[in-house]
Amino acid sequence: VSAFDLEAYLQERRGLVDAALDGFLPSEDTRPPSVHRAMRYSVLAGGKRLRPILVIAGAEVVGASPSAVMPTACAMELIHTYSLIHDDLPAMDDDDYRRGRLTNHKVFGDAIAILAGDALLTYAFQLVAQNAAVPGVDAKVVCDVVAEIAEAAGTVGMVGGQVVDIESEGKTITAEELKYIHVHKTAALLRASLSVGARLGGADAAALAAVADAGQSLGLAFQIVDDILDVEGSLETLGKTAGSDERKQKVTYPALHGIEASRREARRLIERTKSRLSVFGARSAPLCALADFVVERKS
Ligand code: IPE
Ligand code: IPE
Ligand code: MG
Ligand code: MG
Ligand code: MG
Repeated sequence: VSAFDLEAYLQERRGLVDAALDGFLPSEDTRPPSVHRAMRYSVLAGGKRLRPILVIAGAEVVGASPSAVMPTACAMELIHTYSLIHDDLPAMDDDDYRRGRLTNHKVFGDAIAILAGDALLTYAFQLVAQNAAVPGVDAKVVCDVVAEIAEAAGTVGMVGGQVVDIESEGKTITAEELKYIHVHKTAALLRASLSVGARLGGADAAALAAVADAGQSLGLAFQIVDDILDVEGSLETLGKTAGSDERKQKVTYPALHGIEASRREARRLIERTKSRLSVFGARSAPLCALADFVVERKS
């Protein structure tokens, strides 16, 4: 049991991230207004802000401050939000609710939802480039960060996982293929968030290897819990429709392994996450508390 006050830690960082996102996103009356309204609608709907908080925590675990990484933290949230807007489209998971509101395409139509997603992904890389202007941040490190994020979001990362997820609907797949889907569609972005935060914070190679490995286990556990919540949660607690996976005949951890074995696997991965972080000593307290939160969360 840790005495670390995770609730206060998260609340403070969410406040910083929300204010920065609001400031970075073009205003609703910027021409053409429809796409800017659609972008702001989904990003500023809330959400746990886990990816930007992992960027910040990655910087903090190596002794840097949130302000050193804020543009990149926001960039990861923009990429994540683009992935949610597209994931909800009729051609993909066809969902009506997200973050407690109607999905982007339900409000703005498919075309603007697709374009708002494209715009968020593009703007994300503009923000990462802006991180080079933060005093003390080396432009070479920013180049490495661009490459790492692009790889994590692309076909050997998130997009690749989404492709196999869609292509596996209604099929029988192996445990190994299911793990591929989850590692790519979800863990890649979570792992990259922690890793680029540490990179910008000045981590050495050993520290980077530790956070990347921790982020990977955390990310896989996160998606296993997402699958469990799709079975056990509700629209009220999740802010998105429960039962979506069964309706779309997705292969999920609970469907393939059962709820109890899935929960055990998530817990095992979280213990692994925390043991990889132990090299950081007392500085690992926020991340270890965050890791426990990932398996215990109800939304
Ligand atoms: C949902 O992510 C999509 C997955 C990758 C499982 P989150 O559960 O982090 O969604 P928000 O950002 O809190 O809305
Ligand atoms: C989505 O996985 C992962 C993404 C890259 C968006 P899900 O399809 O399970 O996410 P939810 O449950 O709709 O949030
Ligand atoms: Mg999906
Ligand atoms: Mg979905
Ligand atoms: Mg899900």
